[in-house]
Formats: sequence, structure tokens, C-alpha cells
Amino acid sequence: MKNNEIHNLLNKLSVKDKIYQLIQLSGQFYQQDDELVTGPQQKLGIAAEAIKNAGSVLNIRGAQELINLQKRNLENSEHAIPMLFMADIINGYETIFPIPLGLGATWNPGLVKEAAAVSAHEAAVSGMHITFSPMVDLVRDPRWGRVMESTGEDSFLNGVFAQAFVEGYQGDMNPDKTIVACVKHFAGYGAPEGGREYNTVDMSERTFREYYLPAYKAALDAGAKMMMTSFNTVDGIPATANEWLNRSVLRDEWKFDGLLISDYAAVKELVDHGVAQDDKEAAALALKAGVDIDMMTSVYANNLESLVAEDEELSALLDEAVLRVLKLKNELGLFENPFRGADAEAEKRVVFSDEHRALAKQVAQESLVLLKNQNELLPLGDSVGKIALIGPYADTKSLSGMWSFSSRKEETTTLKEAFLEVFPEDELFVSSGCPMIEADFLKDSFGSYHAAESTQFDEKKELAEALAYAQEANVVVMAVGEHYLQSGEGGSRAKLTLPEVQQKLIQAIKELGKPIVGVVFSGRPLDLRIELQQFDALIEAWYPGTEGARAIVDTLTGKVNPSGRLSMSFPYEVGQVPVHYNEFSTGRPYEGSGHSKRFTSRYIDAPNKPLFPFGYGLSYADFEYSDLQLSGTQLTAESSITVSITVKNVGKYTGKETVQLYIRDLVGSVVRPVKELKGLKQVSIMTGEATTVSFELSEEMLRFHRADMLYASELGEFQVMVGRNSENLLTGSFTLAAKVES
Ligand code: GLC
Repeated sequence: MKNNEIHNLLNKLSVKDKIYQLIQLSGQFYQQDDELVTGPQQKLGIAAEAIKNAGSVLNIRGAQELINLQKRNLENSEHAIPMLFMADIINGYETIFPIPLGLGATWNPGLVKEAAAVSAHEAAVSGMHITFSPMVDLVRDPRWGRVMESTGEDSFLNGVFAQAFVEGYQGDMNPDKTIVACVKHFAGYGAPEGGREYNTVDMSERTFREYYLPAYKAALDAGAKMMMTSFNTVDGIPATANEWLNRSVLRDEWKFDGLLISDYAAVKELVDHGVAQDDKEAAALALKAGVDIDMMTSVYANNLESLVAEDEELSALLDEAVLRVLKLKNELGLFENPFRGADAEAEKRVVFSDEHRALAKQVAQESLVLLKNQNELLPLGDSVGKIALIGPYADTKSLSGMWSFSSRKEETTTLKEAFLEVFPEDELFVSSGCPMIEADFLKDSFGSYHAAESTQFDEKKELAEALAYAQEANVVVMAVGEHYLQSGEGGSRAKLTLPEVQQKLIQAIKELGKPIVGVVFSGRPLDLRIELQQFDALIEAWYPGTEGARAIVDTLTGKVNPSGRLSMSFPYEVGQVPVHYNEFSTGRPYEGSGHSKRFTSRYIDAPNKPLFPFGYGLSYADFEYSDLQLSGTQLTAESSITVSITVKNVGKYTGKETVQLYIRDLVGSVVRPVKELKGLKQVSIMTGEATTVSFELSEEMLRFHRADMLYASELGEFQVMVGRNSENLLTGSFTLAAKVES
């Protein structure tokens, strides 16, 4: 449709028709069985007319099902306005990639863009239009369960990945291969007090703008067409009712004119937050704050008609919101082809294809982070002999994390299966050794999910079998980790350790004195202090997805040299949280202050440093950094400085290294971080070879929110640091000057 035709359509709509466009309901309302529908309908308190005419639906999947639904909608819809179909495609559609925290650990935005494009292709042929992804919330607190959905603690790196996801999903907007990216959760959801889910977020505007907002902006700069509000407050006002956030920042400053949808039930929750007296006030607040679609409540459906009748301003805002919905439907080409890419035949061919699974394996390989490899225990040689594969992750298909409802879980390769593809059956002994987690914990914490877990478990027998296998083996591989429901939405934890049942198993195995390789599955940085002592080698595997088990075996055998790097610090213990690499010096830094140690910024019972720092990861290769060179020591807004460094592979294996560039602004009108990531380059280096890696330093990289809140650089002295992680760096110095002094 042309733009004027959209406006003509809008003018034809009654107020009710307009309101229907702002309603989004889940698939449960669109089953064939009317019995089924009346239940949710009564619970939500929404009229059948509103269900029939809702402008969009979330979390229905399948080409034929969505074709049928769209047909029914068009037949019933007076104005033949197509529905939008949206879903949470977070780390894959049916081919599941590592969780985003694992994708962040690849430090490979190009690869993540490919993964997003595959997810979009699978979703598009299955009839999907929009994904509620990427989640670009910055997270410094691993207690928060949704850290698994983020790419970590750094705004620069999160911005790089935000762009990769959006470009991967939306590409050239080819209807058969792409979907729209809905960026979330706007904004600051990753900083709840205490790391507790849905808890209050409160920070200075400076911190908000400097660290928490940039990745959302990067996603919009990459062309994202939709944004989702977050559950949390921003400066005391819930995001879903926050006019400063959604109009002044998002619309006026950032010039975003795309669609803004609330998070699930967030409009109604304005009453629970205590900013709305009732649903009617909640509807007015959300509409005034620019929320276009009300996800999964009846607040807009039941209140906007009376509100707009009473208030001209709201009537205009209603039109504004409906226009944005119609424009996105038009941009997707739905008025010309309401079924867009839905194609049941293509779905069979494209979804979960061998090619997609091969990519999933490559991404999983690059997401794995080698955290320890004492005495080069890894890679396991061909003559490794008997292997005991022990632990609750030894033989399970639950390898894809919390947001993989649509995965073909039954076709996920288990670690046992992957081992048997490589090692002789008579030399592999597999036992879970203990349950994934204490049974009562499952019952208490996971409610309905509990039914999904078999708790018939003979702990004594399993432990005895595991110990016997380990006793016989030359090496033990322990596959351990959090239960996948201990992270994700609603998965905040006050502790960061492995389930106690698993810690006991590991200790029992340790006492046998065998070499142990630990493979840890988790949705967050864990407190691995004890395991770090017990394991001779340690790999963080996150939830690696459909092909993750094969990726792990490829890594254990050396077929692949691990290249993952942490995109989030692993705390020494939960008491350190939040601990992140780009901290401020404080007036009494632990290192280098004139005060006695007692009176410096420190704990008396724990170190300041995390267990593993941001950017950390080992390789089977051994890289040496030397000869940091700067092309000059004076930088101006008109010039740049080339920073170069030599990286040599002095190890026995060819490997990929992620060279990281950091800067430090030594003096600012506000305190500046002790270091900030400003660049990364991945290079593969053959054993014995060396290469020079260069970066361009520009004035733009030095900008920040100054004391006057202007986003700009300040003249003065800087350090530039280059190395393998945020702690192991070579340092140089330069000055930002108004002009180069001869
Ligand atoms: C959930 C999540 C959000 C998701 C939405 C739809 O509560 O907060 O990330 O996209 O609801 O499932």
C-alpha cells in the first residue's frame, strides 16, 4: 500500500477497529476448540470481538497453522487487516544456537549475524513476522536469571552484537528469509536491585546513558523496526508509563518512529507498580507514554474507547499508535501478501536443515570458553583409553536453555551420543552419578516445569556406578551444571554455585585421584572457585544448543581449538557482585593508593579481582604479545593514531585469538573507568607464526557523558591497552589535543 492509502484505511476505522489493532494475544486464544478459548478469555476479561480482531498474536508457530489463522482473520475482519505474528526466537527457531551469553563469548559478530539470519529464515518460512530479539540489556549481575539472554557486561560489545542480530534477522527484508527484530527490554532491565527478577532498577541518568542505553541505540541504528518496553522502573517511573524514556529519548532524541510494544502484561502491571489507580488509568498512562501495543492484557481493549471519547489528546495518540501498526504491516508487505513467507513445503526443507545444524555446531564450538588446562590435559589424545563420562549432563537433551521451547529437543545430540561418535564404545563409561538438582528444589522452584523432570532416581546406585567407572578410567569428564530452569526469566539466584548434589559428586570423584575435565553448563557466570581446584581442565559450555554436544567433543579431542572469550566477568564469589572490568578507580584504589591496605577499596575476606575477568579464555595454542606501537602520541578530532601489536603463536596448535583494544581516560570532568573496550580483532595464527594486528584510534572513541552531560571527548592524557583479555594487556600513552603541536 502507498502511504496515503494507509492513512485512508486509518480514517475508515471505527474507534473499536483502531483499538483492536493495539491488542496482542497469545496463541491459546486461537485454538479451534472454543472451550479452550473461553478459559483464557474469562481470565483475561476480554471480549470475543477483541480476540477475533486482535491486531497481532504471539507464540503460535507453523506455516500451515499461521496461514489458516490469517485466513480466518481476513474472513472475519471487516477491513481485511492482516495480523502480525510474533514470537521469542532468542537463540534459534528450531535449530538452536548457544544461548546469547554463549553467542557473546564467540566475540564473533559476523558469525552471530549468520546465526540470526538462519533463525530468521526458519521463522519466515514458518509464517513468523517478528522476533522479540535481540535482548540487549547490559548485565553486571549474574544473580539475575536473564543474564543468559544477554551478551554480557560491556556496552561496546553488546552494541556490536545488537547490530549483528538486527542485520541478521532483517537483512534485505526478503519476505521468505527475514523477520523484523523487536529490541528489548527498553530499558535497563538488566540492573534489578539484588539481581532479583522484576525488581526495582534505579541509577543515575549518567550511568543509564553511558552504559545501559547504547546497545538499544546500536540496535536501532542497525535498522531495528520495533522495541519492547521493560518491566522495571526507570527513575521511579515504570518504563511502560515513562514518557521521558519512550518519547523524549526514544522518539525525540533517537528519532525512532517504529513500533513500541509493552512486555507481557506490563500495561496492567502499572497498577501493581502503584502508578495507576486502575486499568483505565494504566491504559491512559501507557498510551501517553507511547506504547503502541498492549501485550496480553485487556487494558487497552476495555478502556481506550471511553478514554478517547473523553480526551481529544488520547484520540490523537490512538491514531498515532494505530498508524505505526499499520505502517509496519505495510512494510512487511502484508496487505499485498498476508501470508508473507509462510510456506509449508519450504518449511520442511529449510527448518532444521543439515546446513543450519552445521552452522549451529560451528557457533557452539566458538562459544566454548577454556578456563583451565593444567598440564595440557586437553586435548584428549587418540590413545586416551578408558573415559568415564560422569554427571547429570552426560546424557541429557536439555542443552538449549530456557528460551528454546520450539527446539526439536528430541533431536538434540547428547554428550554421550557425541562421545560415541568418536570414542570406542568399550572404552566409554557413562553415568549421571547424581540428579541434576535436589528433587524438593525442583518441586518448590519450578512449579509446573517440575512435571517435566523425572525424579525417579536411585542416588546410591548411580553414585556407586559413577565411582566404579571413574576408578576404571584413565580420565574422567564431568558434565555438570545448573538446571536450565535455574536461569532465564524468573531464574534469579542468591547463590552462584553448582547444585549441592553435584558438588558432592565432584568431590567424591576427585578423591579417586584421576585427571578430571570439567564441562560446566550454565546460564550465567557461576562461582566455580571449588571446581577450579578440583578440575584439571575446565570448559564453560553455557547451553550450547542442538549441536553443542558435538562441539564439545570436537573441542575435547582437539579437532577444534577453543577460541571463546568471556563477555562477562566470573565473580570470585557472589559477595563480590556486581564485579565488572570497567570499574572506577575510587579515591582509594587497592593498588597504588597512598593509604595502608586496610584503608583502601577492598574486602577483608575476598579479593577484588573476579575469578575470571572479562575477555578471558585459553587456547590450546600459546599466544605471545609484543611490540605495542603507536603511530603518534597526539590525537585530534581530525586525526587518528594507528595502534599495532605483534602476536606470535608459540604453541603447538594453530588457533584463533581475539585481540582486544582498551583505552583509559586518565582525567575527566567525571570519573572514568579504569579501562573501556573499544575494539576487537580475531586472527587465526598457525603454530610458530606471528602477525601484526592494528587498530585505528579516533577522537570519537573517547567520547562520554561529561559533567555537563554533553556526549563529547575532553582533551588530556589517555592510555591505550592491547591484549588477550581485560587484565593481560600491553600499555601505551597518547594525548588528545585541540591540534597537533609540532
Ligand atoms: C516475557 C519476556 C519477554 C518476552 C515476552 C513474550 O515475559 O519478558 O522477553 O519477549 O514475555 O514472550
